[in-house]
Amino acid sequence: MVSPHLILYITLPMLLLFFYQYRRAFKNSTLPPGPRGLPIIGNLHQLNSSSLYLQLWQLSKKYGPLFSLQLGLRPAIVVSSHKLAREALKDNDLEFSGRPKLLGQQKLSYNGLEMIFSPYGEFWRQIRKICVVHVLSSRRVSRFSSIRNFEVKQMIKRISLHASSSKVTNLNEVLMSLTSTIICRIAFGRSYEDEETERSKFHGMLNECQAMWGTLFISDYIPFLGWIDKLRGLHARLERNFKELDEFYQEVIDEHMNPNRKTTKNEDITDVLLQLKMQRLYSIDLTNDHIKAVLMDMLVAATDTTSTTTVWAMVALLKNPRVMKKVQEEIRTLGGKKDFLDEDDIQKFPYFKAVIKETLRLYLPAPLLVQRETNEACIIDGYEIPAKTIVYVNAWAIHRDPKVWKDPDEFLPERFLDNTIDFRGQDFELIPFGAGRRICPGMPMAIASLDLILANLLNSFNWELPAGMTKEDIDTEMLPGLSQHKKNPLYVLAKCRI
Ligand code: HEM
Repeated sequence: MVSPHLILYITLPMLLLFFYQYRRAFKNSTLPPGPRGLPIIGNLHQLNSSSLYLQLWQLSKKYGPLFSLQLGLRPAIVVSSHKLAREALKDNDLEFSGRPKLLGQQKLSYNGLEMIFSPYGEFWRQIRKICVVHVLSSRRVSRFSSIRNFEVKQMIKRISLHASSSKVTNLNEVLMSLTSTIICRIAFGRSYEDEETERSKFHGMLNECQAMWGTLFISDYIPFLGWIDKLRGLHARLERNFKELDEFYQEVIDEHMNPNRKTTKNEDITDVLLQLKMQRLYSIDLTNDHIKAVLMDMLVAATDTTSTTTVWAMVALLKNPRVMKKVQEEIRTLGGKKDFLDEDDIQKFPYFKAVIKETLRLYLPAPLLVQRETNEACIIDGYEIPAKTIVYVNAWAIHRDPKVWKDPDEFLPERFLDNTIDFRGQDFELIPFGAGRRICPGMPMAIASLDLILANLLNSFNWELPAGMTKEDIDTEMLPGLSQHKKNPLYVLAKCRI
């Protein structure tokens, strides 16, 4: 057995060395104020990753719209006002366009061979260009409209069956299954929802991937204590999830490479990426690992965010019957009482569009956007921020700032009827998709799905709560994780409109 004294002799000098380096690095920096931390671990022990945005919001009330944290040996800053978000993401866009290299995210993204987690630089520029031009462009998004229309109609049929037998609908489940089917058909040409075993395996793998994305690995912040992650079994868990996902993507690629595969006239994203791999049009030589990493981006970034936002929109509308009535009247009147509304119809509904904006303001799926990292030292709000500082932009706090939003906690779509604030990254008061170079490139796809799903749910049915339940009983508890899922399913009674 290894003697405890031996462990102490080895680790003590290392601890002292790191502590000394850490003090030396930050003694002279002019980071903004922030809560005092402990040596070595800094503020890590004070933060709870499941409700970090709320904790950071509380801290911003004490330390101001720009404050600093010490995450182990890594400095971090938190931006909580629209003015400073503009200064960071617009005026200093280049300096703030990095992403920290975190163990779980790097492993699952094949060391950043995709967009979300690759560091800022030439590779990121190229892979983002490939995806924006060939995969996520408005043209490509509209080519997939037949898939969206078909699957939304299927969902309406399923809910109609519930309605005709007065059966309660679990909206979380229905919407998760819908958005997963849509993205899987768009990305892989098939869905994994039909057969129960396949479905639960697929969702299990995806949920674990998201959990691993969000898990705090000590080694990211205090490298010499990385062995604790191993003891906690995190490395084995990560390896298992990576292997499972890798086999899944490989099967998808093999299916697409099979010359006997039945092809449809609409190519899916895997087809597009495999063609690009053959054509070699870009300076990156695309490999299967690049394709797998980009497929992960699509799956994880698209499925949950869209279903979660739709669930929250329904929660908000059920809690606000006045708004529900008003938006349904608009949709049904301007929609000409059609059975199914398509993407063109929806562009004619200003109040409906305001409902979507108000949902994204109050119930944004990514309250802290996705962590950034400074590429080089820069000045913000007069403070000198060193290179490699982790940056949180607390959109949750920005969207609830009483200096900007009147009655910020109220669900009031009207606020968007007489102002031009939009979520496309120009107005820093409303940034559910982020802003600057790293802004969400999936926005056209997300909005196309959100619009179609919500408009048709509101057009086809009148919505009631299960017997004995009042609007005050609908809880807004969230699950920990990257996307803000509603913790308890939303159960509702659909009544057919006609
Ligand atoms: C309601 C739906 C969605 C929301 C609210 C959302 C939000 C976000 C946010 C906040 C970011 C970080 C932006 C930043 O750092 O400034 C992001 C990045 C990203 N999103 Fe989305 N997203 C949604 C849907 C989608 C969809 C449907 C896709 C793709 C199919 C997608 C793909 C991505 C990618 C690839 C990035 C990383 C971009 C980069 O780092 O260059 N997202 N998203």
